[in-house]
Amino acid sequence: MLFSAACERNKDSILAVLQAWLPPGAQVLEVGSGSGQHAVFFARSIPRLAWQTSELSANLTGLGERIALEGSSGLAPGSQIPRPIALDVSAPGDWPHQRFDAVFSANTTHIMPASSVPDLLAGAAGVLASGGLLMLYGPFCDHGIPTAASNVDFDLHLRSLDPAMGVRDAGVISEQARGLGLSPVADVAMPANNRTLIFRRNS
Ligand SMILES: C[S@@+](CC[C@H](N)C(=O)[O-])C[C@H]1O[C@@H](n2cnc3c(N)ncnc32)[C@H](O)[C@@H]1O
Repeated sequence: MLFSAACERNKDSILAVLQAWLPPGAQVLEVGSGSGQHAVFFARSIPRLAWQTSELSANLTGLGERIALEGSSGLAPGSQIPRPIALDVSAPGDWPHQRFDAVFSANTTHIMPASSVPDLLAGAAGVLASGGLLMLYGPFCDHGIPTAASNVDFDLHLRSLDPAMGVRDAGVISEQARGLGLSPVADVAMPANNRTLIFRRNS
């Protein structure tokens, strides 16, 4: 089964943000669920949570294995993790027709090409209920000013692996989001120089 050490390090601090912001009984769409560890941990920790995972179709198998093994036992009362769906943010037909209270995505904006980030924002705006939240966890810089040396190094490392990858600018993301009807409402500092950017869909 896929395993992410980073997920084990960041899951508690992300859980605290989810607990502070998600409404009771939230229906959440996760974009780029990776190993599925976040999904299982959050659904074991938050009652009445419906957490819909998703991944690129090429990466769906590993995610599906974890959800099949761990996605139906030991969950918090009333919580559920439906079967994962294939979702490439840049494929408009992949976005579900269901409405969600929140869209969550961890450590994806620096992996997908910069041109796909507005697709993530637009897709989220399209599936969020009025007042729903988009929550983006990961490393970000601000108007070209990196927030930490570790993020400069990480950005260089990513670009050496693939020039299409790179740490994204929170200011640029916020401007793109505003144009799509998503208002920035919080920028939560997280351990290891990460952040959670939170946007609310305008009514
Ligand atoms: C670094 S992993 C993070 C996985 C997981 N969210 C976590 O925190 O461990 C980045 C994920 O983004 C996904 N991804 C990359 N491009 C994507 C796209 N265009 N649409 C949806 N997911 C994408 C990858 O498949 C990968 O699982």
